[in-house]
Amino acid sequence: MKRDGKKICMIIGDPVEHSLSPVIHNGGYKALGIDKEYEYLMENVTPEDLKAFIQKVRDENILGVSCTIPHKETVIPCLDGIDETAKTIGAVNMIVNKNGTLQGNNTDWIGATRPLVKVCDLKGSSAAVIGAGGAGKAFVYGLTNAGCKVTVYNRTLENAKPLAIQFGCELRSLDDQDQIKNTDIICNTTSVGMDSDESPINKAYLNKNQVVFDAVYSPLETRLLKDAKEKGAQTIPGTEMLLHQAFAQFQLFTGKEAPQKAMRQALMEHLSER
Ligand code: ATR
Repeated sequence: MKRDGKKICMIIGDPVEHSLSPVIHNGGYKALGIDKEYEYLMENVTPEDLKAFIQKVRDENILGVSCTIPHKETVIPCLDGIDETAKTIGAVNMIVNKNGTLQGNNTDWIGATRPLVKVCDLKGSSAAVIGAGGAGKAFVYGLTNAGCKVTVYNRTLENAKPLAIQFGCELRSLDDQDQIKNTDIICNTTSVGMDSDESPINKAYLNKNQVVFDAVYSPLETRLLKDAKEKGAQTIPGTEMLLHQAFAQFQLFTGKEAPQKAMRQALMEHLSER
């Protein structure tokens, strides 16, 4: 679709109005001086309307679509193909329209691993992934692929079994977390701590040798990250996951390298104005 002559990308979800993706992507277009050529929008698409929306992507030649909850799995049958990574993870978080062929990819695992690679060696490290939903799966995929020994911790053991089996991980109940004290990397992928002062991890198990990554980004510094900082651990906020999955999408949508600094700045400015 070319609205006012622009190539259109957009994020879909239900709800979607709080998405920060438009701010990040449009910030990137502006920084590269391609904001007259590209525009990134958002659209609330309900599960019932998903099929019709995908038809619109074809009819109006929309260039790219980022997918968030609840569409990451259900959109797969509507597409012409998905890449191996998305197949393994069982979810897509973006669709690229290549001359009418809709290809699904997954960049969430990139958002999970790139921020960690910047601060520690993944190969040979031990990692605790808290949670076994979509975000948990992206972390487990990325970390095991990079040579980390991953233990999945989940509130409901039964729900996490398929994930642990698929990736050959140890599995523990979230009530049984004392082994976290011997773990190099800790990743929270649950919503615990989102707009609350709760942490999924007992502070007693955090220490200065660890890297603690919280996928939650509201607040920017969650209770888990505050506790980790107080114990001297290295911390990574959820905005880094958001940014790194977006950098990868930006490249796949536009074919241009993402202007990372400008995209991060656009996000931070937006968050500080809220
Ligand atoms: P997403 O796709 O965003 O990761 P999800 O599929 O709903 O979201 O996954 C949520 C994950 O967070 C699950 O692992 C869930 O644990 P259960 O399997 O026990 O439901 C976990 N989770 C959600 N709320 C939680 C809470 N209050 N305490 C502990 N774990 C929680």
